[in-house]
Amino acid sequence: MNLKKVIFLMGMVVFFLTSVNAQNAQYVGAAKCKMCHNKADKGEQYNKWLASPHAKAMAALKGAELKNPKCLKCHSTAAAADQSLIASITVEEGVSCESCHGPGSLYKVATVMKDQKVALTKGMILPTEKVCKKCHNEESPNYKGFNFKEYSAKIAHDDPTTK
Ligand code: HEC
Ligand code: HEC
Ligand code: HEC
Ligand code: HEC
Repeated sequence: MNLKKVIFLMGMVVFFLTSVNAQNAQYVGAAKCKMCHNKADKGEQYNKWLASPHAKAMAALKGAELKNPKCLKCHSTAAAADQSLIASITVEEGVSCESCHGPGSLYKVATVMKDQKVALTKGMILPTEKVCKKCHNEESPNYKGFNFKEYSAKIAHDDPTTK
C-alpha cells in the first residue's frame, strides 16, 4: 500500500470512530446539565429553560394526546428519541436541552465541555435555525410561523462571561 492510501484509510477510521461515538451518545436530561449550568453569574441556563415554553411543552397536551406519538415527537425530547438512547431523561421534561444541544452523555464531562472543539466531536450541537425547524414547521397543528431571530431572543440563555 502506498502512503496516500494509508493516510486515507487512517482518516476513514478516525471519521468512523468519531461518528459512531456521537451516534451512541445518550440522553441524560436537564437535571444533569443543571449541576454546571445554573450559576447566576454565568446566565442561569437551567432556570431560564425551566421558565420557558419548552420545559412546559407536555402541559400543552391533554388526555390521549399525552400518549400520541404524533404530538410527542415535538413536545417531548425523551419520547421522540430512539428508546435505546435513553439514559436518565424523562418524558415529562418536555423539550429539553438535548433537543437543541444533542444527547449529552459523552460531552457533559467537565474535561470535554471546557474545549468546544472536543465537545463538538462528542455530539454537542450549537443550534442553528435548522434545529428549531425540526419542530417549528407546518406539521404542527398550532403553527404560528417562525422567525429565528425573534424566537431565539425569547428563549435566550447566554452566558455573559463568554461573550
Ligand atoms: C461538569 C460540568 C458540566 C456539565 C454536567 C455540563 N456542562 Fe456544558 N459546559 C461546561 C463548561 C465548563 C463549559 C465551557 C464554558 C463555560 O465555562 O461555561 C460548558 C459549555 C457548554 C455549552 C457552550 C459551548 C460553547 O462553546 O459555546 C453548551 C451549549 C453546553 N455546555 C451545554 C450543556 C448541556 C446541554 C449539558 C447537559 C446535557 C451540559 N452542558 C452539561 C460544563 C458542564
Ligand atoms: C412538528 C412539531 C409539532 C407537532 C407534530 C405537534 N406540535 Fe404542538 N406545538 C409545536 C410548536 C413548535 C408549538 C409552539 C407554537 C408556535 O410557536 O408555532 C406548539 C404548540 C402547541 C400548543 C399550544 C398552542 C398555543 O397557542 O399556545 C398545543 C395545545 C399543542 N401544540 C398541541 C399539540 C397536539 C395535541 C399535537 C398532536 C396532535 C401537537 N401539538 C403536535 C410543535 C408541534
Ligand atoms: C430550544 C432550543 C434550546 C434549548 C431547549 C436549550 N438551548 Fe441552550 N442554546 C440554544 C441556542 C440557540 C444557543 C445559542 C447558540 C450560539 O450562540 O451559537 C444556546 C446556547 C447555550 C449555551 C452557551 C451560552 C453562551 O453564551 O456561551 C449554553 C451553556 C446552553 N445553551 C446550555 C443549555 C442548557 C443547560 C439547556 C437546558 C437546561 C439548554 N441550553 C436548552 C438553544 C437551546
Ligand atoms: C423538539 C421540538 C422543538 C425544537 C427543536 C424547538 N422548539 Fe421551540 N417549541 C416547541 C414546542 C412544542 C413549543 C410549544 C410549547 C408550549 O407552548 O407548550 C415551542 C415554543 C417555542 C417558543 C414560544 C412560542 C410562543 O408561541 O410564545 C419559542 C420562542 C421557541 N419555541 C423558540 C425556539 C427556538 C429559537 C428553537 C431553536 C433554537 C426552538 N424553539 C426549537 C418545540 C421545539
